[in-house]
Amino acid sequence: MTRLFVNVDHVATIREARKTNEPDPLKAALLAEKIGVEGITVHLREDRRHIQDEDVRIIHKNIKTKLNLEMAAIKEMVELALELKPYQISLVPEKRQEITTEGGLDVCSQVQELTDIQKQIKKQGILFSLFVDPDMGQIEASQKVAADSIEINTGAYSELTDSGKVEEELVRIQEAAKQAVKLGLRVFAGHGLNFDNVKAIAAIPEIEELNIGHFLVAQSVYMGMEEAVKKMKQIIETARP
Ligand code: PXP
Repeated sequence: MTRLFVNVDHVATIREARKTNEPDPLKAALLAEKIGVEGITVHLREDRRHIQDEDVRIIHKNIKTKLNLEMAAIKEMVELALELKPYQISLVPEKRQEITTEGGLDVCSQVQELTDIQKQIKKQGILFSLFVDPDMGQIEASQKVAADSIEINTGAYSELTDSGKVEEELVRIQEAAKQAVKLGLRVFAGHGLNFDNVKAIAAIPEIEELNIGHFLVAQSVYMGMEEAVKKMKQIIETARP
């Protein structure tokens, strides 16, 4: 069964709009856990625009499932990960001006730097994942870095509207997932997934784990976090024949 990790960053985005203490990303994470999700994801950005250091600590301490910490490949974040020891870290590219993560990590151009981080992270028993575009070169480089897994960026797939182009991107994702498994990598996916586009991604047999955030937080406004997560889980669970 495909695992679902709920990203609660944008609960913190709403809170930060007022710099108050509501809504609370931990509370949202606990509601998602009630529905049986396998883990919680947070992205601690360098600019701290949503999730704060204290959120990561509190969520890590209080959830019963697993914490996937998304972060940039920088010294400050690596040190924090080594101190907190989450279940998994996922390295993502980060630009200060971007609204959200805009693309996969360029693993090819930083194999040595990422290998150095991988060694430090693995020494602490933390799983090491890389967020990459469905690109064979990036996947081969991820194997060189000895990542445990890759998370395929579904951002481009989620933004396409032309059905032919959607199909083409889906094939790229399917082929990337197959190649990654052949190379011994575990495969996850995420970015921009919603009730409509998640099914085709969850149906890909190689994909073990999905990270979904913004859409679930947005749906929570209408139907509550539990109902939104429940519906997403149902779609994911019935996606494979
Ligand atoms: N995976 C990664 C690496 C991300 O950076 C994000 C966004 O924080 C997601 C998944 C989740 O994307 P979305 O919020 O669009 O569901």
